[in-house]
Amino acid sequence: MCGIVAYVGNKEAYPILIRGLKRLEYRGYDSAGIALLNDKELNIYKKQGKVSELEAFTINKNLKGNIGIGHTRWATHGLPNDVNSHPHFTTNKDIAIIHNGIIENYSTLKEELISRGYQFRSETDTEVIVHLIDDIMKTEKVDLVEAVRHALLSVTGAYALVVISNKHPDTLIAARKSSPLVVGIGKENEFYLASDATPIVEYTKQVVYLNDEEIAILDRNSGLKIVHLSKEEKTPYIQELELHLEALEKGGFEHFMLKEIFEQPKTIHDCFRGRLNTEQGWVNLGGLKDYHQKLLNANRLIFVACGTSWHAAQVGEYLIEELARINVEVEYASEFRYRNPIINEQDVVIAISQSGETADTLAALELAKSKGATIIGICNVVGSSISRITDAGSYTHAGPEIGVASTKAFTAQVTILTLLALLLANKKGTVSAAKFHEIISELENIPKKVKEILDKNNLIKEIATQYKDAKNALYLGRGSSFPVALEGALKLKEISYIHAEGYPAAEMKHGPIALIDEEMPVFVIATKGTSYEKVVSNIQEVKARKGKIIAIVTEGDEQVKSMADHIIEIPDTNEHLVPLLATIPFQLLSYHISVMRGCNVDQPRNLAKSVTVE
Ligand code: F6R
Repeated sequence: MCGIVAYVGNKEAYPILIRGLKRLEYRGYDSAGIALLNDKELNIYKKQGKVSELEAFTINKNLKGNIGIGHTRWATHGLPNDVNSHPHFTTNKDIAIIHNGIIENYSTLKEELISRGYQFRSETDTEVIVHLIDDIMKTEKVDLVEAVRHALLSVTGAYALVVISNKHPDTLIAARKSSPLVVGIGKENEFYLASDATPIVEYTKQVVYLNDEEIAILDRNSGLKIVHLSKEEKTPYIQELELHLEALEKGGFEHFMLKEIFEQPKTIHDCFRGRLNTEQGWVNLGGLKDYHQKLLNANRLIFVACGTSWHAAQVGEYLIEELARINVEVEYASEFRYRNPIINEQDVVIAISQSGETADTLAALELAKSKGATIIGICNVVGSSISRITDAGSYTHAGPEIGVASTKAFTAQVTILTLLALLLANKKGTVSAAKFHEIISELENIPKKVKEILDKNNLIKEIATQYKDAKNALYLGRGSSFPVALEGALKLKEISYIHAEGYPAAEMKHGPIALIDEEMPVFVIATKGTSYEKVVSNIQEVKARKGKIIAIVTEGDEQVKSMADHIIEIPDTNEHLVPLLATIPFQLLSYHISVMRGCNVDQPRNLAKSVTVE
């Protein structure tokens, strides 16, 4: 949510900032802006809309400078217009700032500053910080770094920010609290800064992740210095990035989302690779090895997550309760943290998050930790905030997910949860050796079966043409396919703006059935298994009301075929693994419908990839 990039060194900063902003555009695309410092002249260019619009706006401008900052915005305070775009600057334009996060006490600070003669140009919370820094420098007669530190001691809320000043032409000052920031260390005192490593990886693999309440001073003469808000000096912990540039490119696909859907045979495989052995009959999650007993003896496992990750958690609940017979609860992170939940040392709270930065999920974990629970993370982004604050965890290894709508991260999360359920069930003895063996060997077949479904892309595209103009859609499933229905509905609504809802199939007759008429597409997961006959009855109820049925069925199914308007066959698999397959056609259907409706598939309106505000 908002992307930050900055550079200081001896190269031209502008191309680095623009490329970086393009990589970070998934974090917000309401506006973009840059500040460049050249010969003590600080030039600011900002524009509502995408980075490409900023680029067009800056043609023929003076874009010289070896030091600069850039921002791509997801609006929180103030409309997405030119004025509210970052950077924001002091009245005399000596200092400029970019910020990701929310300053909660901004209105009090703003009133104080107005009473002291400051005039505000924008409606943002961010502008408060830059005037505050200016005010502190003037009244307390301190240098810029000290003024930034004092200002940050006065603000409450979340921030990742970078400050540039024409009085300090060699220095950038950055700080973070609850919003991510990573420093890239180039050659000879050359530094990069960004909200994540994607703008940095093509220049250097040496990075330092800033911790909360740290200030980084990046100076092309004296190097990198990190101090805590308390003034304590910190030794930078340099890490080697494992990210590869190709992972950030579209690789010949029209959209990142399509590329990421097609990557799933590989990402699911990468997720379980080295974590199971069919011959020797074991499952292992290395990051959790010291926590097996804790998990097995837990009073409850409480999953906290948001959006798609919450749907994955729901699948996890079915799997763990069914296979390992451990009590599981799934909570929306945002609700969990505000309802005074009863948690104690016997509980294990597990956060699921692709980005590892979601503000509500982070806050839920912090709350659980403060109450003595063990906290565990299942994250995709290596080095993310959640992965660093948790006691233990497992990475999903899906690689960077750039499309705003989550696809491969979901199947990777479900894969980890399947492994976790199997691991606990095996240790607890709640599954027979034969069943354990059957599921792990079938898990190894899943990438191949996902590929078989992807090969039906043309058929799925054809079905999509028939429903692209729908106004509403229902998604139905039972058991662990119910969260897949929820996820299918979310994918459709977020990228094609068609209203869609997911329901447990049997709940339909308790209300939603009233919506069904000949205009209503109903997407149903009707694969072979425990609830098959019941779902068939639900399909009949829809048909009796002239709804259109698009059913995902097990290969060779004849019964549903005779009733449905369209069927998409998926390979037969163990019932516990159906979510990994059934979700793929829904992803493709949503993708094609979005493209046919002319929507921005990778950057749907109003959304951002990493939701770092509450
Ligand atoms: C939907 C989607 C979101 C995220 C949610 C949580 O396609 O991507 O619903 O799942 O914002 O994000 P993470 O997993 O990064 O915590």
